[in-house]
Amino acid sequence: MKLKYNQLCVALSMSMLLSLGLTACSDSKPAEPAATPAAPAASTPATSTPAAEAPAPAASTPAAASGDTAAAPAGECSVELTGDDAMKYSLNEITVPASCADFTINFKHTGKMPKTAMGHNVVVTKTADVNAVVKDGMKAGASTDYIKAGDERVLAHTKLLGGGESESLKLDVAKLKADPYSFICTFPGHSGTMHGTIVVK
Ligand code: CO
Repeated sequence: MKLKYNQLCVALSMSMLLSLGLTACSDSKPAEPAATPAAPAASTPATSTPAAEAPAPAASTPAAASGDTAAAPAGECSVELTGDDAMKYSLNEITVPASCADFTINFKHTGKMPKTAMGHNVVVTKTADVNAVVKDGMKAGASTDYIKAGDERVLAHTKLLGGGESESLKLDVAKLKADPYSFICTFPGHSGTMHGTIVVK
């Protein structure tokens, strides 16, 4: 009877009928529990595998959550732009996903010259208004960062920055649907090289 029971235990553990069969065996004989931990130990990786998989979906949840806050992935609603002592922007075109509510331009002057000599800003206007905005900005002078006070043609702008400084501007994408737009530096003489287009797609 005992032999038969042991055989049953072996059969059960071998067939990996874990909890039920092994619990029954460990109750019957002290010798069996020694073998018993082996089987649960073998089964532990099996149970820990789903547990290890569980954090994975959990980790992906924040991504899905951020996807809920905006139609486009957060990273697509901003861009890094630099300007340097060679009077150049790092980009000549910025693509704005139409699905973004706001679009941020993170601008940095990577040069070393002061803003009085090599000042850079980022001014967003309709492309058709660029020349007038630059002209009026020059008249306005350094005290208003070469932007005419209250200029309604300017959708957004940073202040005038010197080397090492940075500033972000935010665009309301809903206002960018009608016309081609440009970004320019209105520091006198800079818009010839420091300009780019903004494309909404
Ligand atoms: Co400039």
